[in-house]
Amino acid sequence: MEQDALGVAVIGCGRIGGLRANLSAAHPGVNFLALSDRSRTRADVLAQKTGADLVTTDNLLAIRDDRVGAVFISTPEHDHRDSVIQALEAGKAVFVEKPIAFSLEDADAIIDAVERTGSELRVGYSRRHDRRWMLAKEQILQGRLGEILGIQSRVYNTRAQLLEILKRAPDATPVNDVLTYYVDMACWYLDGIRPVEVVARAQSKVFKAMGHKAADVTWAIITFDNGAVVNLGISYVLPATYPTVGQSSRFEIIGDEGVILLDADNKDSLLFTDRGAPHSYVPDHNINMMFMQTTSAADFAVGDYWGAVASETRSWLDHLMTGRPSSHTEPRAARRTLAITLAIEEAARTGASVKLPA
Ligand SMILES: NC(=O)c1ccc[n+]([C@@H]2O[C@H](COP(=O)([O-])OP(=O)(O)OC[C@H]3O[C@@H](n4cnc5c(N)ncnc54)[C@H](O)[C@@H]3O)[C@@H](O)[C@H]2O)c1
Repeated sequence: MEQDALGVAVIGCGRIGGLRANLSAAHPGVNFLALSDRSRTRADVLAQKTGADLVTTDNLLAIRDDRVGAVFISTPEHDHRDSVIQALEAGKAVFVEKPIAFSLEDADAIIDAVERTGSELRVGYSRRHDRRWMLAKEQILQGRLGEILGIQSRVYNTRAQLLEILKRAPDATPVNDVLTYYVDMACWYLDGIRPVEVVARAQSKVFKAMGHKAADVTWAIITFDNGAVVNLGISYVLPATYPTVGQSSRFEIIGDEGVILLDADNKDSLLFTDRGAPHSYVPDHNINMMFMQTTSAADFAVGDYWGAVASETRSWLDHLMTGRPSSHTEPRAARRTLAITLAIEEAARTGASVKLPA
């Protein structure tokens, strides 16, 4: 299915849609770019930066344009379903940001549309496309760990970033919006092995006092059907000016013949400046000290974009143009990840273990 040129539409022209649009505009195979956002101003500003060919507030107009073959859905988490289904029904290849949706009902409606239309859908679990995690997958594929016995991972970020996320998605929590990346990777590494049970505990003080349902700290254990145990934790309650500007994490994989230890706190990538530096995600939030590689999406530097979302976007466009296999998350895997994050929240809320259906 090789093709010489590809038209792209980006629905949702915010932070991540902006990255997708800039990266698409710079891709040598992309010959047409359509942008749609419910805010005309946002779409217009991005169109000026990218030289887009079509700018609209009518998502369907962009999706159905005959010159468009591939569609990025970069709207907020709770607002993926309609545009994804419309694009699948229009016969376009679709890439939706993570999580696939916030509810299993929405995820099932999307998967139904994938099966009905036969159109391709991939989900933006960009953490996989950070070189560290991609190399870990390769070592596992080469059998260097033997059988995986367990995984432990935890991710930290500041309360400033969670409060920014809540502005676009009031139902977001650190678990359904961020730990979801780490659930995706754990299941990717344990490919073919079924998660069966979740236990979790959470502490809620700071965000609760602000009126949010997000917990301050959540720890979970997921058991797989071969007995493998995966311990995942998250806290987005670190002080607002702590130097992380995205995700600071550890990810450790223990096999019966080997081990991988990923230290992604990025404390070794330090900037300190008296002038203050802008936060990559939170507007008007200048900080003096920054762990530079913690931006989890991608950074602009010296004329181009670098980081997980840049690699992920380019490789999806390459995949569409060349037919080469890709490592992007498939819809059923994204649905399973959603079911696990929902189970983590339920287990933390009730204190009971949650069995995961087959
Ligand atoms: N992979 C990553 O690194 C990463 C990082 C952050 C966010 N995300 C994901 O990207 C998605 C968007 O997050 P963001 O940070 O870009 O949000 P954002 O608020 O910056 O952008 C969302 C944009 O969508 C527009 N919009 C909202 N509803 C719309 C609709 N129905 N039709 C058209 N436009 C609409 C808004 O006006 C806004 O411009 C979310 O799913 C989020 O989880 C991914």
